[in-house]
This record gives sequence, structure tokens and C-alpha cells, in this order.
Amino acid sequence: MYKIRTTMDVISSLKWRYATKKFDADKLLTEEKLDILKEAFNLTATSYGLQPVRMVVVSDKALQQRLKEAAMNQSQVLDASHVLIICVERKVEAPFVTNYFDRVKEVRETPDAILKPFREMLEQKFDNQPKSDTREWAIRQAYLTLGNLLTVCALEEIDACPMEGFE
Ligand SMILES: Cc1cc2nc3c(=O)[nH]c(=O)nc-3n(C[C@H](O)[C@H](O)[C@H](O)COP(=O)(O)O)c2cc1C
Repeated sequence: MYKIRTTMDVISSLKWRYATKKFDADKLLTEEKLDILKEAFNLTATSYGLQPVRMVVVSDKALQQRLKEAAMNQSQVLDASHVLIICVERKVEAPFVTNYFDRVKEVRETPDAILKPFREMLEQKFDNQPKSDTREWAIRQAYLTLGNLLTVCALEEIDACPMEGFE
């Protein structure tokens, strides 16, 4: 279950963390730790709460070998127990926004009258702004999840290496 930590614990965890270059290929992340990382990904703050990101979890040596080749042959991709791939949505337009607000309505039971002005503003914004702006915005949200995951890895003493060195 969740541990209670002091501020000093958090700082010492962040000091413990480093970008791991050599993973022990025999060590496996437990399902419990993996679930914590998935939840941390889902709980990351994103702009407008829209979460234009998804995480693909790979733990398959044949696939990891292929990913390694696309990642300048960096050995971490093959040797790590799991590779967490952070993806951005290709299409964030009015239907994506509408879907998000439908979910807010369902989960928080917020009346439509309250949600409507914000929803309409965002539907129009994402329909009208250049697609390249939306893409850059989504990528920034992906980096937020990366930062969050790295912190949670440190707190859970999970070795991790952030990587953007791939094709
Ligand atoms: C966005 C990002 C991308 C990175 N990409 C790679 C990478 O492709 N390969 C790698 O070995 N390290 C990568 N790193 C790790 C950095 O080189 C490392 O974090 C930095 O040298 C500081 O070292 P530390 O994290 O051990 O304190 C990346 C780090 C970040 C934040």
C-alpha cells in the first residue's frame, strides 16, 4: 500500500535517482509497482485536464530488441524490465473535448450548464488552432507525465532512464 513520507524522504529519493544506463536484465518490476506507475501516469496534471496522452507498457524481449534498434541501439531498451512508451493523441479536436466533458459529467455529476461554456470554448479552440500547435501542446503534456513518472520511480526505488534518443 501507499507509504507515508516526510519531505526529507522525498529529497533523499530524488538524490538517489539517476538515469540508469545498465539495467539488470534478470530483475523484473512487480505488478504492484507497475500498477503504481500506471496510476501515477493517469494522475498527472495536464492542461485543461484533457490528458492527450497514453502510455504503452512493453515487457517483451523480442519487441524490446526491435525498439532498441529504433533507439540508437541503447541497451536500456532491451535490458529494462519494462519500457513505458508515452504517446500523444494524433487528433485532439472537438469530439475529443466533448468526450472528455461527457466523462466529467458522468464521474463528477457536474450539471451541463456549468460545463457548457468551458467545453464550447475548448471545442472551438482545438478545432480552429493550427494542428502543429495542438501537437506541440500535447507533447508538453507528455513531458509532464515523464517528470511525474521519474519522481514516482525514485520514491519507489525503481531504476529508470528517461529516453528521447529514438527515431
Ligand atoms: C527528456 C530526456 C531525454 C533523455 N534521453 C536519454 C537517452 O536517450 N539516453 C540516455 O542514456 N539518457 C537520456 N536521458 C538522461 C540524461 O542524459 C540524464 O538525465 C542527465 O545526464 C542527468 O543525469 P541524471 O538523470 O543521472 O541525474 C534523457 C533525459 C531526459 C530528461
